Amino acid sequence: MNTSALKIFIGTYGCQMNERDSEMIAAQLQQIGHAIVDREEAADVVILNTCSVRRQSEIKALGKSSHLAKRKRNDPNFRIGIVGCMAESLGAEIFRLNPAIDFVIGPRRLHELPAILSDDGRRMLTGESNAESVQHDFNRRLGKSKCTAFLSIMSGCNMRCSYCIVPRTRGREVYRPMADIIGEAEFLAANGTKEITLLGQIVNNYGGRSATGNGGTSPFVSLLEKLNEIDGIERIRYLSPHPAYFTDDLIMAHKNLEKLCPSVHLPIQSGSNRVLRDMGRAYGREDVLRIVEKLRANVDGIGISTDIIVGYVGETDDEFRETLSLFDDAGFNMAFVFKYSPRPGTRSAEMCDSVSEAEKDSRNAVLLLRVAEASGRYNHRYVGKTVSVLVEGHAKRGGHIMCGRTGTHVKVLFPASAGDIGKILPVRIVGSAMAVLYGAVCE
Ligand code: 5AD
Ligand code: SF4
Repeated sequence: MNTSALKIFIGTYGCQMNERDSEMIAAQLQQIGHAIVDREEAADVVILNTCSVRRQSEIKALGKSSHLAKRKRNDPNFRIGIVGCMAESLGAEIFRLNPAIDFVIGPRRLHELPAILSDDGRRMLTGESNAESVQHDFNRRLGKSKCTAFLSIMSGCNMRCSYCIVPRTRGREVYRPMADIIGEAEFLAANGTKEITLLGQIVNNYGGRSATGNGGTSPFVSLLEKLNEIDGIERIRYLSPHPAYFTDDLIMAHKNLEKLCPSVHLPIQSGSNRVLRDMGRAYGREDVLRIVEKLRANVDGIGISTDIIVGYVGETDDEFRETLSLFDDAGFNMAFVFKYSPRPGTRSAEMCDSVSEAEKDSRNAVLLLRVAEASGRYNHRYVGKTVSVLVEGHAKRGGHIMCGRTGTHVKVLFPASAGDIGKILPVRIVGSAMAVLYGAVCE
């Protein structure tokens, strides 16, 4: 039994959900007296919070863990833990792949990490937790106060998209009680947070499909309405909605709730109805077009981005061209593009991964070019305009250059001082590039 205070480094891979889980782990460990360090060389324990969504994500984390194993040869007290989705999907296989690993903990057991740390033996915790939705009971009291924060409103996913490993790693949907979410948002607002991003695998299915709202309002929109009332919170975003649940009341919320940002990330995955049906996505390209048209009709200049998979099982040239045309017709201003990666245990992994790697590469390159052109065009429209920017922090390039975002989620760089962090300032845009705008704060 080891009860002494430890120095812990947490490395995070993958999605925003993982970032939020890492924040939760950090606060939890600090609460019981451990220190979180920002250099892995200074740590007694390195925890890698991993992702399984593509094979490449796993290779990255496994590569990192074998690098860390070298240090363990000289320092047997040094410990390495793998947590998150890869811990769940590979389980005990991780100990075989890297015998230097000390513990493996799946996303639904993260609250048990403190107990594992006080134990010296090799440990593995995966699957469902006995305690009910413990993760959600966590209230953030520690951790850095930031002007933007992730706020988890549900976990898990009840969909069964053919290619996706998430339902296996994160389990069925669990919705956090509304009062808890409001409480955390109020706490964040009181500690200087200006922007909250609500997180869920299908965030707009909060409360579940069968849940009836008040007078046609979905539980997700009711939640947005309540959050919109909180003093101090200036901006609300959410990630990621599913097109099949993109209800009209959510579209109208974008028009009616002044804090809800004019920005939607709407993963479409493909523009081919045959592929979408095979994936089990429960919508077609016409539905996507209908949603974006309505959003644009109600919210001036809204930014709409997406996720797209290229080279899915059996995707033909024509089907890929349908994806290109849906990307254009919907007028997305940004997209994350992924090459299809078969994940063990998913339905599509049992089918032949029929599109060659060379073909995936070429479709990826064609689509990325399209995306770059669309982002460039969208961003260029800002030049000469004045936009409201939340100042988030120092830009990577350092100096007096600060970094922030427009309501539509475009990154802006501009000269300002550290004292401006957390303020929403009017910035006049003087230049644009594919992924960023350049501006100057209006006097
Ligand atoms: N292969 C490639 N991309 C995937 N995604 C999810 N599963 C896979 C997979 N097996 C992508 C989807 C999702 C994003 C988070 O990752 O586009 O929206
Ligand atoms: Fe995966 Fe589909 Fe659920 Fe998204 S909706 S997490 S892609 S199964």
